[in-house]
Amino acid sequence: MNEEERKILIAEEEKRIEETISKIKHRIAVFSGKGGVGKTTVSVNLAYCFQTEGFSTGILDADITGPNVSKMLGIEGELILSLERIIPYMKYGMKMVSIAGLIEPGKPVIWRGPMRSKMINQFLANVTWGKLDYLIADLPPGTGDEILTIAQNMKPDYAVIVTTPQEVSLIDAERAVNMAKTLEIPHIGVIENMSGLICPNCKTKIDLFGTGGGAVIAENNNVNFLGAIPIEPEMRVLSDKGIPFISHRKDTEVSFSFYSIMHLIESILNKVPFVNLKK
Ligand SMILES: Nc1ncnc2c1ncn2[C@@H]1O[C@H](COP(=O)(O)OP(=O)(O)OP(=O)(O)O)[C@@H](O)[C@H]1O
Ligand SMILES: [Mg+2]
Repeated sequence: MNEEERKILIAEEEKRIEETISKIKHRIAVFSGKGGVGKTTVSVNLAYCFQTEGFSTGILDADITGPNVSKMLGIEGELILSLERIIPYMKYGMKMVSIAGLIEPGKPVIWRGPMRSKMINQFLANVTWGKLDYLIADLPPGTGDEILTIAQNMKPDYAVIVTTPQEVSLIDAERAVNMAKTLEIPHIGVIENMSGLICPNCKTKIDLFGTGGGAVIAENNNVNFLGAIPIEPEMRVLSDKGIPFISHRKDTEVSFSFYSIMHLIESILNKVPFVNLKK
């Protein structure tokens, strides 16, 4: 392929991405500084909240080397390709794409940044997302190429930064907040996940990793504090079984927190009054 042909292909892809984006009302990027803090858990459960509150919702698994969304939604099987378009999976009424649907289970994706970005662009350009109210991108940890690609091409209007209460996570979360500011994402919010542990026996809260650091980071950096989600051992168990916790356990603190966070994001993005479900 010569330089001229390459330019034409890139221009065509950019046009298709623009078309995709123009049909999606709000786009949310979920990221963190540190790994394993609950980004995928938050993405999946938040998406479930949006969908069940009547918003058409999609999830883009932008973690190319560690794609976990399929696993957490209990989705198996290959993605279907039709006329050079990718047909997203459907689960709980939500659309979802992940590289996990294009590779053999257990096979590593050993790609450098530009290849990973190319895949994300394909997910934006060639997936039949159709009209959506919300598209949530679940990103890998850190501040690497995937976030730059999502910021540039998906053009998120909300950055959700997930942190746990420990100092090591909070330091990295502050980096992520500042990255979101540098990328000029219009709205930024912090979620403190694993904020206290709910005892499986007596249901009282144990201050395992500490609490409150997420709110401090948000305040110090002048961004929204969206809420705290406690450690709920059953959430991990259900996650491993491919079941979003809130689809199964509605009357729990975790579910109230997720729905409250969802309504807060919705109120900020659509400038509508926030109704706190906890009160
Ligand atoms: N509040 C919680 N209570 C109990 N378990 C949780 C909670 N949040 C996340 N987990 C569990 O912690 C593990 C890591 O969560 P998850 O995969 O969502 O993190 P991540 O930030 O997406 O990780 P990575 O950086 O690898 O993408 C999972 O097993 C998940 O089920
Ligand atoms: Mg993840």
